[in-house]
Amino acid sequence: MVSRASTFASVDIGSTKVCTLVGDMTPERHIRILGVGVSPAAGVSKGMIDNIQEATEAIVNSVEKAERSSGTHIVAAHVSIAGGHISSMNNKGVISVPNRNHPIDRNEIGRALEAARSLSIPTNRDIIHVLPRYYMVDGQEHVTDPTGMYGQRLDVETHVITGAVTAIQNLTKCVEGAGVQAEELVLAPLASAEAVLEREEKEQGVILVDIGGGSTDIAVYVDGAVYYTSVLPVGGYHLTHDLVAGLRVPFSAAETSKERYGHVVPSAIDIEHTVDIESFGSQGQKSIPRRRMAEILQARAEEMLEMVFLDVKRAGFDEMLAAGVVLTGGTANLQGIVPLAEQVMRMPVRVGVPSGLVGLSDVLVNPAYATSVGLLQWAMRETEANVNYYGRPSPAPAVGDWLKRLGGWVRALLPQ
Ligand SMILES: Nc1ncnc2c1ncn2[C@@H]1O[C@H](COP(=O)(O)OP(=O)(O)OP(=O)(O)O)[C@@H](O)[C@H]1O
Ligand SMILES: [Mg+2]
Repeated sequence: MVSRASTFASVDIGSTKVCTLVGDMTPERHIRILGVGVSPAAGVSKGMIDNIQEATEAIVNSVEKAERSSGTHIVAAHVSIAGGHISSMNNKGVISVPNRNHPIDRNEIGRALEAARSLSIPTNRDIIHVLPRYYMVDGQEHVTDPTGMYGQRLDVETHVITGAVTAIQNLTKCVEGAGVQAEELVLAPLASAEAVLEREEKEQGVILVDIGGGSTDIAVYVDGAVYYTSVLPVGGYHLTHDLVAGLRVPFSAAETSKERYGHVVPSAIDIEHTVDIESFGSQGQKSIPRRRMAEILQARAEEMLEMVFLDVKRAGFDEMLAAGVVLTGGTANLQGIVPLAEQVMRMPVRVGVPSGLVGLSDVLVNPAYATSVGLLQWAMRETEANVNYYGRPSPAPAVGDWLKRLGGWVRALLPQ
């Protein structure tokens, strides 16, 4: 029997697609993709569930495809969460260390993070993550890991992400309705960041911007840690919708033309170049100047990027982000998006694509799959460090607990 102790699954529920992945880690520490299941999303709008039955069916569809291609049965998975209900803040936790002759261990770190969790949030909101940014030991600042240090007082600065209880319940219900236990919910842009950001970029300051179909998810990293996250309710859908309104063509035709011929720098397009698009009315097809399409797309893309810039600026971070912007999400495929983003945000910009994958990975080498791949990496990193990414290190594990945990993964994916 194949050992499945280190096999993981992820489900990214986006506004346009649901993507389920099954993967493991090779001895050379590459992620090997064992199964992929992508299906069109339904019942999801702006990153949030708005029809339980349709969303559940879309998840079932995607999970079944991933199960078939990997020859496994998925029982548990890491699941992405996004939507306008998400909010975030920075909060501090402080504890005193009772025994000064005993070095700080994971119990103390766990208590400090627990203290950071105990902030007053409305009863209709739940904490999704408490992410440590840095620690202080007896006033010594910017300690990245206090394990093994001596001190009497431990402070932790954290980034706390909360979501609406109902939105979390709806998401969990759909995933569980598809027969999969939601092992953990991970904020979508944090997962995308996991897949595409370099450590150096996080250290020097970087904005991860995932522009999907229905939402634009932002995560800002400074000094190697998450400082700010946010979700804006705009995405590729709005670009397509502007083509529908501006060119008077059906949505599906506008979508196909956008993906094939779309550009956001009109001056880069030959003025003579026309494209044939299916249209409403009696005409059947019409010929549209490609530059006209680009003008429509540019206007909206520029507005979206300005919204991102203002959002980050309001949070006070535009000055100290030397590594600039990394774009992910399907809309990062739009031609001309990098120069346009550089012009709007006045920073270096690149597109982030998952890399270093082996196995069934061809389709995933696309910025649209950054969240899915990042979720898998998150799950692997978590198990390796035995840290629960709600930000709480699990209590120091007894050997039996470790085995139980491994047992959980073994059960999670058994060959059918
Ligand atoms: N080549 C392309 N050019 C322009 N847009 C593209 C291209 N390929 C995909 N897109 C757009 O990317 C969007 C889908 O991106 P993605 O798969 O990241 O979204 P999602 O994760 O389903 O949604 P969200 O994260 O917003 O909930 C669609 O709007 C699609 O039109
Ligand atoms: Mg997405």
